[in-house]
Amino acid sequence: MNAPIKAVTKAVIPVAGLGTRFLPATKATPKEMLPVVDKPAIQYVVEEAVAAGLEDILFVTGRNKSSLENHFDRAWELEAALEQKGDDFRLERVRKSQVLGDIHYVRQGDPRGLGHAVLCGAMHVGDQPFAVMLGDDLIDHRDLLLAQMLDIQQRYGGSVVALIEVDPAQVNLYGCAAIRPGPGPEDDVVEVTDLVEKPDPSDAPSNLAIIGRYVLHPAVFDVLRQTPPGRGGEIQLTDALKTLAGMSPESGGGVHAVVFRGRRYDTGDRLDYLRSTVRLASERKDLGPEFRSWLREFVGSLPPEDGA
Ligand code: G1P
Repeated sequence: MNAPIKAVTKAVIPVAGLGTRFLPATKATPKEMLPVVDKPAIQYVVEEAVAAGLEDILFVTGRNKSSLENHFDRAWELEAALEQKGDDFRLERVRKSQVLGDIHYVRQGDPRGLGHAVLCGAMHVGDQPFAVMLGDDLIDHRDLLLAQMLDIQQRYGGSVVALIEVDPAQVNLYGCAAIRPGPGPEDDVVEVTDLVEKPDPSDAPSNLAIIGRYVLHPAVFDVLRQTPPGRGGEIQLTDALKTLAGMSPESGGGVHAVVFRGRRYDTGDRLDYLRSTVRLASERKDLGPEFRSWLREFVGSLPPEDGA
């Protein structure tokens, strides 16, 4: 008989990347700290983890990430100044980020890829399944993707990834999955049979792309230790998941996927970052009404594109 599946309580969030796509903004500021409306992108991700019940958060950090650490810590001087002014509204906003979860840090000395970043969490995670959340992907708080992935992991064991359908020409930006129908009645839960990291569109197994939410069996750590550098000379999480997909359930293998059709905001790319900011700002209760009315006027005043 298989051992009972352990509960998931921990999330690992790799944040050691250099953020070169946003230079010069990210020369001295971590890309995760760039604001989306008025909150750093990374705070949305931590709020998502906590909302799904994962209060133990491990950041895998690197050099120049101290502002991220400060963001989730107390800011005594700022609090004292706001208290003195009686500005309870802003005080509450400042305090919000430091009461989120139980936050831990580990450093990824060498940037040797996402698989290596996850492996840096091995000691902290131990022998239980855990979530990995990438800071570039924001999932709308009304779409309960992570909760669904946790539920699938608890039901079927093994590991769970999230997939979206992308334009076939774009699969080379993502890990790409081959799938077959899943074991249950839900048509958005499938079984992963193969994975390729950033394939050429001409030999991609499908147009289903991995997005930055994973729930992983701890067997991934041993697999990662034996995974050689792959695409880009980096240790790829996708390669380790491919190995797990071919392993038996008794040894922690098996990979399911949720095909996500909800709202995802990609803040890792400049154009998508702008789209995310506009979409989220226009949906805000406080800023939305005024912003939307300005936006309508602004769009109406735009000159047509050349050739339109
Ligand atoms: C990483 C993964 C890739 C995945 C992507 C999702 O790539 O390696 O498999 O599809 O995240 O955002 P990166 O975007 O870090 O290059």
